[in-house]
Formats: sequence, structure tokens, C-alpha cells
Amino acid sequence: MTDDPSYIDTSRPHPARMYDWFLGGKDNYPVDEEMGRQLVAMDGRVLTTARANRAFMRRATRWLAGRGVRQFLDIGSGIPTEPNLHQIAQGVAPDTRVVYCDNDPIVLAHAGALLRSTPQGVTEYIQADFREPEKILEEAARVLDLDRPVALSLVALLHFVADEDGAYDLVDRLMRALPAGSHLMLSHGTGDFTPDTARQAAELYKARGMTLALRSRAQVARFFDGYELVDPGVAVIDEWKPELGEASEPVAGADPVAGGASDDGPTPGYGAVARKP
Ligand SMILES: C[S@@+](CC[C@H](N)C(=O)[O-])C[C@H]1O[C@@H](n2cnc3c(N)ncnc32)[C@H](O)[C@@H]1O
Repeated sequence: MTDDPSYIDTSRPHPARMYDWFLGGKDNYPVDEEMGRQLVAMDGRVLTTARANRAFMRRATRWLAGRGVRQFLDIGSGIPTEPNLHQIAQGVAPDTRVVYCDNDPIVLAHAGALLRSTPQGVTEYIQADFREPEKILEEAARVLDLDRPVALSLVALLHFVADEDGAYDLVDRLMRALPAGSHLMLSHGTGDFTPDTARQAAELYKARGMTLALRSRAQVARFFDGYELVDPGVAVIDEWKPELGEASEPVAGADPVAGGASDDGPTPGYGAVARKP
């Protein structure tokens, strides 16, 4: 045990590193792969869902940038995976300012890749926990003008935050600090289509000292209470504006792993974007 924020604990799995393994990355350890394989054995769609999630992030970011959004605050940014959010947004508008935030030391170790901005834009990285929204806002304000609209991006983050840990209140506190015209963009894992598998997965996370709070469509929609959902609302991630292209890539990186009983059916995640009126 250590309080050093840069200490990488390889004795237990971490969500950022497991996700990197799902995506075929190299920044993970045997403990992450072992748990990743256990999850894939429960539901083979874990791998395709991770890719579908990245594709959602790309579509939603491009859509927002196309609507004139020039400031993004991305919490739970993850280990850099190209193209990163700032590359998409600055590809549309080079002067876009992006602040990334994650609490995992491995993301800090790779944050350099997140900081390669266009000359006109800015990217910054904050090492902080989502459960400290005021600290995040204070640090983000050094780069973002919080009097002007910001897109708050919480992509595949909130299913790691339980209701008891204040998930809804935390989103609220962040959105309340942002002006009208700001957006909330998020994706979220669900057990709606395979509740038994979802329960097993949540138990596995708990046994490894982590939280997995999969939510129903209605529970995901609650994060958007008071905001104007952009068409098509809270959708299965593949079905959120598929016309924008960027279908999820085939599973390329991770070794083929035998999937479990729940390999068919909709992708078990929702995505949505809404505007603060
Ligand atoms: C599944 S990854 C998603 C990465 C990226 N947003 C994406 O969708 O491709 C979830 C990320 O959330 C981060 N995370 C989990 N709980 C967090 C918290 N309380 N505060 C900040 N980051 C957190 C993890 O470290 C991980 O990098």
C-alpha cells in the first residue's frame, strides 16, 4: 500500500488497464488480463462493447464539435487510445480546448499522449477522482472558460460509481457549474439484456474490491433529468446516430477468447447526449 499517486499496483486488476486489454492495448498486467478473460467467458460481447463504446465517443465528439462545442471536460478518460477525444474534436476545430481527468496512476503515466494538442488548441490532464468535482472544476478552470459552454464527457465511467457513492449528485454538481448551452455526453454499461450475467459480473468486481454499478435504461436516463436529450435519446450505443459512420472496429487486439452464454443480442451499453437549457 502506498499514498503515492503514481504508484501502479500490479497485484490487483484496475478498470483502466482491463479496458486497455479489451481494446487490444499493451498497457495492462497479467491480473488485468486474467479478470478480463473471466468477464469475456461470462459474456463475449465485452470485447465488442469496448470497441462500440470508443466508436460512440468518436461519433458523439464529432457531432458536438460540429455543433460548435469548443470546450470538453472528459472525466474517466482512460489510457490514451488513438484517436483520442481531443484529436477528434480538434480535427473538426483546431482551437478546441480539452481537459482530461482520471484517477488511475497508469493514465497519469501515459498522459503525455493526451497533451499533444494542435498549435491553436490546448489539452490538459488532471489527476483527480470524479468524486471530487469541485477540485476537478477548479483545476479545469485554468484551461476552460467555465462561463462559456462546455461538453462534460463521462464515457464508460458512471458504471464504476454506485448510487451510494453519489453518482447522480456528482453529475449534478459538475453540470450545475456549467452554463446554459453546455452538454452532457455519456455512455454506460447495462444489465438490461442479460441480468444474470450482469449480476455475476458485479459480484466478480466486488470480490476484487471494485464497484460495477450497471444501470437500466431508465436509471441512465435519470442522469439527464432537466436537460434536453438529443435525438435519439438514451440509445443502445451502436444505435446512437449510426449514420455518422465510424462503426465499431472488429475485435483485433486481444487473443480470441471463448465467449460465454450471452454472446448474442444488443450491445449491453447505452449512450446519450443532452443539452443544458
Ligand atoms: C472503461 S474506462 C473508459 C475510458 C474512456 N472514457 C473510454 O470510454 O474509452 C473507465 C475509466 O474511468 C476511470 N475511473 C473509474 N473510476 C474513476 C473515478 N472515481 N474518478 C476518475 N476516473 C475514474 C478508470 O480509471 C478508467 O480509466
